[in-house]
Amino acid sequence: MKGIILAGGRGTRLHPVTRGVSKQLLPVYNKPMVYYPLSILMFAGIREILVISTPEDLPLYQRLLGDGQQWGLRLTYAAQDEPRGLADAFRIGRKFVGGEPVALVLGDNIFYGTGLPETLRRAAKLEVGAVAFAYPVSDPHRHGIVELDASGRVISLVEKPSEPRSHYAVPGMYFYDGKVCDIAASLKPSARGEYEITDLNCVYLARGELRIEMLGRGVAWLDAGTHESLLQASNFVQTVELRQGLMIACPEEVAYRMGFIDGDALAALAEELPSEYTDYLRNILRDHPVRR
Ligand code: TTP
Repeated sequence: MKGIILAGGRGTRLHPVTRGVSKQLLPVYNKPMVYYPLSILMFAGIREILVISTPEDLPLYQRLLGDGQQWGLRLTYAAQDEPRGLADAFRIGRKFVGGEPVALVLGDNIFYGTGLPETLRRAAKLEVGAVAFAYPVSDPHRHGIVELDASGRVISLVEKPSEPRSHYAVPGMYFYDGKVCDIAASLKPSARGEYEITDLNCVYLARGELRIEMLGRGVAWLDAGTHESLLQASNFVQTVELRQGLMIACPEEVAYRMGFIDGDALAALAEELPSEYTDYLRNILRDHPVRR
């Protein structure tokens, strides 16, 4: 399976900060925001990844992430010249996807919690249809909302409903089969002028090919798109990391644990500019000389 990180957009809710800096490069505690969705794709076992951002910001992502080889990945880049919606990722990424299954994760979504890598690996085995997730939220009118029957089958899927029929939001992480680019190409822009991911998911739903998996209470889903949620996300990551002495979404560590790079490669990364971050990489090797 391939992966796409969508890291464009206007970031208007974070103005004026995002007048100068791309939202998904802002720090969430001690790492750039984009490390978090990148780690999610890596946990799913995905190594071939397309990063989409605005034409102005794309060079900054290239500078930060490079070709991905340092983490055992193959990263490529594509520009979205206007924020035409989340499903636009599959119009821009059509050639990259090449008719294969693909996962999409939004550049400002942060996931962390028990059993998540296992859930991701299961979703990445998908061959037919689509897998999206459901997560309870207190503000359903602000999200894509899914209504499920008692057996977990999807009844309805609505983008930002004024009268939500459930409090289960669909987070910004989706897995699709090889038909996704054809379906995205057939979509019409919505009233707000965007190719909506909810419309794309509704096509899979109408075909009986949309599976929704619950993300349980043990999983945190944070979106860092407002000043308040960005600060909350930073505080969350800081609290967990300081308590455990383990990092959330450290791509070097994930690459090592997933077997994408070996101990020598991790040691070389740890030799880079001394910082708390590279101290941490050295500690991983000291504590886990054999990958686990
Ligand atoms: P949003 O948070 O919906 O939009 P935004 O990032 O432009 O922020 P704001 O609402 O404050 O203006 O986008 C969710 C994610 O998807 C985020 O990582 C940006 C990205 N995105 C794109 O890359 N292209 C798009 O066309 C859209 C709509 C979003």
